[in-house]
Amino acid sequence: MGSTGVLAESGMSDKASKRPKQTGDNRLPGDPDRETLIERMIRVDHAGEFGAARIYAGQLAVLGKHPVGDTIRHMAQQEEKHLAAFEEMIVERRVRPTLLSPIWNAAGFALGAATAAMGEKAAMACTVAVEDVIQEHYAEQSAQLGEDQAELRDLIDEFRAEEIEHKETGLAHDAEQAPGYRVMLEFIKAGSRAAIWLSTRI
Ligand SMILES: [Fe+2]
Ligand SMILES: [Fe+2]
Repeated sequence: MGSTGVLAESGMSDKASKRPKQTGDNRLPGDPDRETLIERMIRVDHAGEFGAARIYAGQLAVLGKHPVGDTIRHMAQQEEKHLAAFEEMIVERRVRPTLLSPIWNAAGFALGAATAAMGEKAAMACTVAVEDVIQEHYAEQSAQLGEDQAELRDLIDEFRAEEIEHKETGLAHDAEQAPGYRVMLEFIKAGSRAAIWLSTRI
């Protein structure tokens, strides 16, 4: 009887593995339901892209006319494109945006401007920290999304590739030579992770 039970179970899991992957299949007990999960993703991504756009705006306020200005402007333009896509999605899917936008507006700009004021390498160190957290966050989301959300997943994968490019741009511009690089990196990463945590929920 015990062996029949095992066979029946393995039969079931075979069937389940042939079904195209659905969003939230790898949810754990106590995790939010599928709808909430997707809503939270869009909310936090919208907030993240807004924050990123503000960081680059802050950097450009200081370094806009510097030789590195065009490189930063290119990344800023990509962030504006990412932000516009999530803005559209928030309206289409009627997702409530984060209530923390005014904070990310000011904090993002301040972070960008402050690191840029420390110099080009510090600005690039900020970019490396933020982009690494965002690309990691997008990878986690992409892994949670199934065929039912293929459009959102493809968008996230596309944006993630650009965030990785931004991180690499930062490294190519000697981010690692910024004074106090390690400390700054960990500090900004921790702040970015906290912002993600908050914007998912509030
Ligand atoms: Fe972005
Ligand atoms: Fe980026």
